[in-house]
Amino acid sequence: MRGRSFILTCLIFGLGLVRNVNCGNILVWYTEGSHWINLKPVLETLLDRGHNVTALVPSSSLFMDVSEPAPYHYETFEVSLTKSDVRNTMERFFRFWIYEAQHMNFIELSKTFYKTMTDHLEMCVAYCDGLFKSEAVLNRLREGKFDLMFVDPVYPCSELVAEMLDVPIVYTLRFSLAHSMERLCGQIPAPPSYVPGAMSKLTDNMTFSERIQNFLFYVSQDAMSRYMWRTFDKYYSDYLGRPTSFCEMMGKADIWLIRTYWDFDYPRPFLPNFKFVGGIHCRPAKPLPKDIEEFVESSGDDGVVVFSLGSIMNNMTKERANTIASALGQIPQKVLWRYSGEKPETLAPNTRLYDWIPQNDLLGHPKTKAFITHGGTNGIYEAIYHGVPMVGIPMFADQPDNMVHMKSKGAAVIMDFISMETKDLVDGLKAVINDPSYKENAMRLSRIHHDRPIHPRDEAVFWIEFVMRHKGAKHLRVQAHNLTWYQYHSLDVFAFLLAIIALVLFIFYKILKSCVVRCCFRSRSKSKKE
Ligand SMILES: *[C@@H]1O[C@H](CO)[C@@H](O)[C@H](O)[C@H]1NC(C)=O
Ligand SMILES: *[C@@H]1O[C@H](CO)[C@@H](O)[C@H](O)[C@H]1NC(C)=O
Ligand SMILES: *[C@@H]1O[C@H](CO)[C@@H](O)[C@H](O)[C@H]1NC(C)=O
Ligand SMILES: *[C@@H]1O[C@H](CO)[C@@H](O)[C@H](O)[C@H]1NC(C)=O
Repeated sequence: MRGRSFILTCLIFGLGLVRNVNCGNILVWYTEGSHWINLKPVLETLLDRGHNVTALVPSSSLFMDVSEPAPYHYETFEVSLTKSDVRNTMERFFRFWIYEAQHMNFIELSKTFYKTMTDHLEMCVAYCDGLFKSEAVLNRLREGKFDLMFVDPVYPCSELVAEMLDVPIVYTLRFSLAHSMERLCGQIPAPPSYVPGAMSKLTDNMTFSERIQNFLFYVSQDAMSRYMWRTFDKYYSDYLGRPTSFCEMMGKADIWLIRTYWDFDYPRPFLPNFKFVGGIHCRPAKPLPKDIEEFVESSGDDGVVVFSLGSIMNNMTKERANTIASALGQIPQKVLWRYSGEKPETLAPNTRLYDWIPQNDLLGHPKTKAFITHGGTNGIYEAIYHGVPMVGIPMFADQPDNMVHMKSKGAAVIMDFISMETKDLVDGLKAVINDPSYKENAMRLSRIHHDRPIHPRDEAVFWIEFVMRHKGAKHLRVQAHNLTWYQYHSLDVFAFLLAIIALVLFIFYKILKSCVVRCCFRSRSKSKKE
């Protein structure tokens, strides 16, 4: 069925009824969680435009459900991990970030963080192993005539698959730790004086001590990243039979689609093969389900507050839930809270609990006054799209950093999940709802977000099709990739010029010296004669 409509679409395109686009065969590398949610809207648009999309999925995947009917093809491969292995690793990761990280000192924190990252990379090695041992799958891939791989590089190994199939790669990435992948492997410039490292919780306006902090953050994270990537350096070198590195292989990617934009991020230098497509999944609001609409309408002029801590944090300890619930009871707005834990005793009549809420449609509703969020990029982008000010209760990973961005742009206040009291949350909510500056700033970001030549989803699709049309985009690749670090920083040029200056000075000194000697000698001999 799909095949026939594919051929039909191709025919229509081929006849030139629609703007000429090649019908491409796209291979998508496996990814999990919110990364997969971010990929989907692009894949759907690619399918609408007549491309054939195949996703590679390990048998242990939690989020890519191959049994559900989907418009794309799935290519499953067996791996040595089970679903519960993956779930356990993820749960350890979240427990560390949410409950354990704040009780740790810097050394413990770095050690545990390093451990969680190595666990992640070990999982990725298992995926790599699984795929390269599945001969049948490899053969199908080789015969699949793929035009391009579309990849979120947070899950490595796609680089080897692309090398094997000899196809270009388009990356899509929110960020890597301290932007190590983008800077070290993609060669995007990031002066530490005004580009804060991802997850550093700094803004682009840094004091002297913050600049020291940011500088050291880059240096330490780069060292750690390079150390962790050794596993893949070795894996890639062994597989290819020549010395190479993970970073060098990543550097071959043709386009990097970064999932932020200047509404959310601070201005920074970038390269022609880096495109900023933040807000890929944003869509206009649809009408609400009837019961929710009635509840929202019942709020009158006070409006509603939308509250979600994301799909992962949908329960919490009783004590935290009661603190939050009693704060929500003290505002005149009605509150829709996405929460699947036990009903808090202090829950007030203005608050309703839901297992799931149509978040985007609620944020787009004219009665919505504020959004209480954990600060995931997806939720923040929906709030920016609809111009809703935020109260951030960040939990882990990039969330604290994301909320710092929104706060510095005047569209949010930040709460600390562990230490906040009822009064803090009430004050934060009242500030965001009653102080018009928050709404104005949120609306300003929203206007910036919407005022672009092309929707970010279409921009992402454009660059994917561009790479397919031109069989790569190597003309956008900077020569920086082929330079050594001392060439990149012109240290060899400095050394050479310094040597010349030193030589000139030395010769000058010698001449001067001999001159002085001769003059003195002459004057002395003259005076002797006299
Ligand atoms: C689309 O991809 C699938 C899976 O790789 C393949 O079986 C199918 O033949 C492709 N369709 C076309 C029309 O190329
Ligand atoms: C940068 O921060 C300082 C205080 O740290 C502030 O005085 C200054 O106005 C800020 N500059 C800009 C451009 O925001
Ligand atoms: C959240 O729910 C899970 C089971 O659904 C439970 O194991 C976990 O302890 C709960 N977390 C908290 C903080 O209550
Ligand atoms: C630059 O390096 C790439 C591999 O990283 C290589 O394929 C290419 O030939 C090099 N280009 C030049 C001009 O040396």
